[in-house]
Amino acid sequence: MNAPWVYISSVGQYTGQTVCIKGWLYNKRSSGKIHFLQLRDGTGFIQGVMAKNEVDEATFSAADRITQESSLMVTGLVREDKRAPSGYELSLVSLEPVQHTTDYPITPKEHGTAFLMENRHLWLRSSKQRALHRLRNMAEKAVVDFFFDNNFIRTDTPILTATAAEGTSNLFATQYYDLGTAYLAQTGQLYLEAAIFSHGLVYNFGPTFRAEKSKTRRHLSEFWMVEAEEAYYDNDDNIALQERLVQYMIGRCLEGCREELKVLERDTAKLEEAVNAPFARTTYDDAVNLLQGMGNPIQMGDDIGGDEETAISRHFGKPVFVMNYPKKIKAFYMKEDPQNPERVKCADLIASEGYGEIIGGSQREEDYDKLLERMQQFDIPVEPYRWYVDLRKYGSVPHSGFGLGIERTVSWIAGISHVREAVLFPRMLYRIYP
Ligand code: 4AD
Ligand code: MG
Repeated sequence: MNAPWVYISSVGQYTGQTVCIKGWLYNKRSSGKIHFLQLRDGTGFIQGVMAKNEVDEATFSAADRITQESSLMVTGLVREDKRAPSGYELSLVSLEPVQHTTDYPITPKEHGTAFLMENRHLWLRSSKQRALHRLRNMAEKAVVDFFFDNNFIRTDTPILTATAAEGTSNLFATQYYDLGTAYLAQTGQLYLEAAIFSHGLVYNFGPTFRAEKSKTRRHLSEFWMVEAEEAYYDNDDNIALQERLVQYMIGRCLEGCREELKVLERDTAKLEEAVNAPFARTTYDDAVNLLQGMGNPIQMGDDIGGDEETAISRHFGKPVFVMNYPKKIKAFYMKEDPQNPERVKCADLIASEGYGEIIGGSQREEDYDKLLERMQQFDIPVEPYRWYVDLRKYGSVPHSGFGLGIERTVSWIAGISHVREAVLFPRMLYRIYP
């Protein structure tokens, strides 16, 4: 019999027909007379039912012997079943093992995170991890669609760079031929700034590296960042764009990943709100006053850390832009606030529900002399950045941009507690295996 090979996601089109499914055994329950096989093929899950009195003895005993996570091909009759999560079931007529698995280390019982991290290559098969990475897929698709639909040009920036842009304390360095030290990109921003003179609106999307010697649930050593850069945008235009992007991403995930969010047991009420209502806006100064009022020891001029972000986000109960930080604690390229030269025209977007900063952005200093002055204040040598300061000589314009961390954003939308699960194989202070 030559049953057509179909994916579980499309079995609905084959009701009443016999089809072949190629995949893995997720789980199995058996009574003496009937096997219930939970099958997975990448596109979804389906239950295959095999009754002893409907197949020959060899087929029934093959199903008896098949173990969790064995690969297999089955054929069966597609039946509609209102009680099944997928809406369909298979009445199995044959089963052919592809590779028989013994002693699969991850069993349905609870495992500790350390064990699961060590077995990350297998953990990825579990239903929550699967849902999470499908959600990430949707979030990334939303990013690309959003920028494409809004006339942004994707211009992917280099990974190997000659200079730092976000401070020198967290650089990964490598020897670059005979040309000295190169660094893995902490950001592509400076290169995007060059690209706006060609395209006006640009973005990149790629891996970003920071030697973060802190162990927090928000930091990875390798993460993915989406960065946009916009000619003729001021800080307010920049913030408005970020708000639209984040709302669009959440909206697409809510709409396209209902099943995944259910598997993740995500209470989506706050996300639904976030899509429909404007985010809050506050200034650094107001945020510090607010924190001090709550009894937080923060002083004017201090950076806002993770715990403070959580307190701010709890206070507003929705995503909040914190604007105009002190010049001293932000990067050299940020534009001074003309109203207050101690502050810069920037904003961090703090997600709701304690998820912390997901976006950092600012208006950029477009004036040649002012930029040189800022670099001097930060002790940054001009020579390696010659090309960057050049941009302020040839048709310089006001411009702004931002970077959104994908893992932090996906963690928030998914409602998971640590960014390490939002990336396929996390790289952290104490982990580069697997
Ligand atoms: O705030 P950051 O450092 O901003 C920049 O790099 C700018 N050059 C972006 C730009 O304007 N083009 O980083 C941006 C975002 C953060 O808000 C956070 O979401 C994420 O990148 N991020 C990290 N995510 C995971 N692990 C880390 N170690 C991260 N560091 C930053
Ligand atoms: Mg930041």
